[in-house]
Amino acid sequence: MAESLQAVRGMNDLLPEQAARYRRLVGHVADVLARYGYGELRTPVLERTELFVRTIGEATDIVEKEMYTFVDTLNGESLTLRPEGTAACVRAVLQHNLIYGSPQRLWYEGPMFRHERPQKGRYRQFHQIGVEALGFLGPDIDAEQIMIGARLWRDLGIEGQVRLEINSLGDAAARAAHRGELVAYLEAHRELLDSDAQRRLHSNPLRILDSKNPAMAELIAGAPRLLDRLDAESAAHFDGLRRSLDAAGIGWTVNPRLVRGLDYYNRTVFEWVTDALGAQGTICAGGRYDGLVGQLGGRPAPACGFALGIERVMALAEQSSLLGSASVPAAYLVHQGDAAGLLAARVAETLRGEGLAVVVHCGGGKFAAQMRRADASGARYAIIIGEDEAARGLVSLKPLRESGEQRQLTPEALVQALGAPCAPAA
Ligand code: HAM
Repeated sequence: MAESLQAVRGMNDLLPEQAARYRRLVGHVADVLARYGYGELRTPVLERTELFVRTIGEATDIVEKEMYTFVDTLNGESLTLRPEGTAACVRAVLQHNLIYGSPQRLWYEGPMFRHERPQKGRYRQFHQIGVEALGFLGPDIDAEQIMIGARLWRDLGIEGQVRLEINSLGDAAARAAHRGELVAYLEAHRELLDSDAQRRLHSNPLRILDSKNPAMAELIAGAPRLLDRLDAESAAHFDGLRRSLDAAGIGWTVNPRLVRGLDYYNRTVFEWVTDALGAQGTICAGGRYDGLVGQLGGRPAPACGFALGIERVMALAEQSSLLGSASVPAAYLVHQGDAAGLLAARVAETLRGEGLAVVVHCGGGKFAAQMRRADASGARYAIIIGEDEAARGLVSLKPLRESGEQRQLTPEALVQALGAPCAPAA
């Protein structure tokens, strides 16, 4: 195939087996979230560019260089494919006036788009499940969301491979004071800053602390820590969170360098990280954004949320029985002759009506070739309808995966013979 017709770099097809795993993961997470009282929100993949600039922040990597932005030629509006879900969630909550009657627990799922350099675990179209709670002030909601993560990792059997890092970014005043100190410290060591850090020195100095450049590791280790300068309320909030996590038996480590790549955070930030996926080891991340609703023009309301990267979680949970193996049909129906074809379609419809997965052979061919297809389909049984069976209104049932005789029976007796219906796809 011409390269020009292949999928865009960093954007992947999900073939049926992978797509089934994706569905099962989202289905399971949806079930878990329903148990915690979260309702699904679906927003468009396109939003006005300004929404992301104002929420994620002008000096972030995402807004500076990673957004897929274009001008709508019909009206000159600048639009952007969503790089994340929190901004649209807050927009929708405000637009539909959801928040003021009662606090909201919401979740969403779907594709996000960032023009990053693709590598294992980092894609240009990737998928998130996001969880947001708006209108809750206390650390109990932060703890609840972390507990949701912990439950998911347990369910997926990956709890031994992930660890929780937490930090507090304090309130705006604490951040401003710390920022002044940090810039002064970094300026005093300007010769040690790489070009990226030099560029960020005044626009987003906190992000310099997130640098992976080993040449700056020592400088960063000695930098003034926001965590040591927290305002009293944020410090109490952080204490409350740690106590709730301890009570829930969830292990944590404080990572004072954890700053996150989006500007809307304050107080609690957290990441679930693994060493098993190479450089892209953060499978899930989030925190509080108490200022965002007010910043977008709503009556201020505190909020907290997180998003997990579906590709990364699926990669880590490769062996999880919860995501299962490819589903196989209960039966593959082979047939020969006009009357048999009509009976085959009718029998298959009846079985599907009973909840069984049945594939009907299409395209004709000799019985032997059809049987090879039946075998390759993974089906437990072949249902065989030849001219003889069709004339007598019967079908033959042949086990494909275990020994057993082929036997003739009436279409009505098939449901029982085939056993329990397959589990519906999650
Ligand atoms: P984020 O840290 O930018 O946060 O993304 C959350 C997760 O999405 C990451 O931890 C990672 O697993 C996954 N992810 C991000 N970028 C990529 C990529 N290029 N390829 C594959 N996976 C990726 C947010 O998006 C916030 N909206 C989370 C949040 C919700 N905070 C509060 N509410």
